[in-house]
Amino acid sequence: MKKNLQVKPANGKLGVLSIGLGAVATTFITGTLMARKGLANPVGSFAQLGRMRVGRGAEKQYLHVGDIVPMTDLNDIVFGAWDVFTDNAYESALYCEVLKREDIEPVRDELEAIKPMKACFDADFAHNLMDPEFGRVPDPLWAMSDDTRWNYAQNIRADIRRFKEENKCDRVVVFWIASTEAYTPRNEQVHGTLAGFEAAMKADDRKHLAPSMIYAYAALMEGCPFIMGAPNVCVDIPAMFELSRKQGLPIVGKDFKSGQTMMKTAMAPIFATRLLGVEGWFSTNILGNRDGQVIEHPDNFETKRISKASSIEWILKEEEHPELYSDIYHKVKINYYPPRKDNKESWDNIDIFGWMNYPMQIKVNFLCRDSILAAPICLDLMLFTDLALRAGLSGVQEWLSFYVKKPMTYDDECPVHDLFQQFAMLKNRIRELGGYEADQELD
Ligand SMILES: NC(=O)c1ccc[n+]([C@@H]2O[C@H](COP(=O)([O-])OP(=O)(O)OC[C@H]3O[C@@H](n4cnc5c(N)ncnc54)[C@H](O)[C@@H]3O)[C@@H](O)[C@H]2O)c1
Repeated sequence: MKKNLQVKPANGKLGVLSIGLGAVATTFITGTLMARKGLANPVGSFAQLGRMRVGRGAEKQYLHVGDIVPMTDLNDIVFGAWDVFTDNAYESALYCEVLKREDIEPVRDELEAIKPMKACFDADFAHNLMDPEFGRVPDPLWAMSDDTRWNYAQNIRADIRRFKEENKCDRVVVFWIASTEAYTPRNEQVHGTLAGFEAAMKADDRKHLAPSMIYAYAALMEGCPFIMGAPNVCVDIPAMFELSRKQGLPIVGKDFKSGQTMMKTAMAPIFATRLLGVEGWFSTNILGNRDGQVIEHPDNFETKRISKASSIEWILKEEEHPELYSDIYHKVKINYYPPRKDNKESWDNIDIFGWMNYPMQIKVNFLCRDSILAAPICLDLMLFTDLALRAGLSGVQEWLSFYVKKPMTYDDECPVHDLFQQFAMLKNRIRELGGYEADQELD
């Protein structure tokens, strides 16, 4: 039975502020602009193409997501960005070489109008980005002048207010699609409470406060939800949980689940449900884009490694089946290999065992396109986070775990990694927001 809608309508314009205007961001923005002109198909976007069941028995219906909950029309989206490179979105899309020129030209004017604002940047958190050995270094560095973390936050807040006013936006979502930052371990004093976090900003604690944290703080203070598309610790700290709840705003993350981890979290449930043992899982990749360049540095790789390595152990639970999943040798590698550019190739070797412990092997070789897989995830995360905002949902949005490699949860809760369980969670939340009952019935 349909109940009253709790979600505010998607009136007015939605501003989307992307931190980072590189391969993923420009592929996402170009595809969205092309789709709204009817020139491209948003393949991979559940929010745009998905149909799902609502109701049961005689009341069963299959509806598009937008017929269940009020979704923002693509025509009502305005894009803005920050980056350390001065390239506008058109120039950056050409530089990144993900899309063919013929797929960019029809929206050239709109892309050229997206000019990055000065970044809140600290090279210590993105080492290789500034190393000429790896390629182009920004000249000049398009970043806020050297200042305290606290003043950076005030600058970003002013940027958001200006963007919102100039573009007459009803609401704004802020989205990190920038480089993976060097790993920033949690520090209780700085990250444990909002008061500690603000004190550290005022004291300009550069060691514990990564630039992404400053953007996130500024966004939440300006009433904007925040999405973390990289594996950065950023909003995955108690201080940000506190701020997002205090402000009544959603936070979402982290690290797009686009290629290898999507495959892994779809395959691991096969072994878990058929009770096949796993002895080892070796995952390696070659990647030649600027993201690969940044991740090549050990400090930045550490952030990615933790994110990529955390998935299968939550699906193949040692505590439930020690005879099948004890001491799984799980190794993850990413190798920077420029000739491949954005066309990442991944290999997985899985050593499994079956009846009477007889060993078997599975090999997976995925020749993918990193940003082509990430773009629809960006679109869905942006649209569903805006939905969460209008529904008054605040804090960590676990129902969006479907889209991320390392789903954030509050500290005492287990993340869900199984792709199909995550999909059920997503659909159930959409059902609830549409006034239908959540259920586990198979479609
Ligand atoms: N399939 C995928 O492509 C995929 C999957 C998961 C996560 N990610 C993550 O998405 C992010 C973007 O990937 P990409 O391929 O577009 O990388 P990219 O290098 O092409 O783009 C990143 C951009 O961020 C900018 N940047 C870095 N630090 C900044 C800061 N402090 N402020 C503003 N801008 C800053 C860089 O200058 C660059 O233009 C990476 O963190 C990557 O790990 C991508």
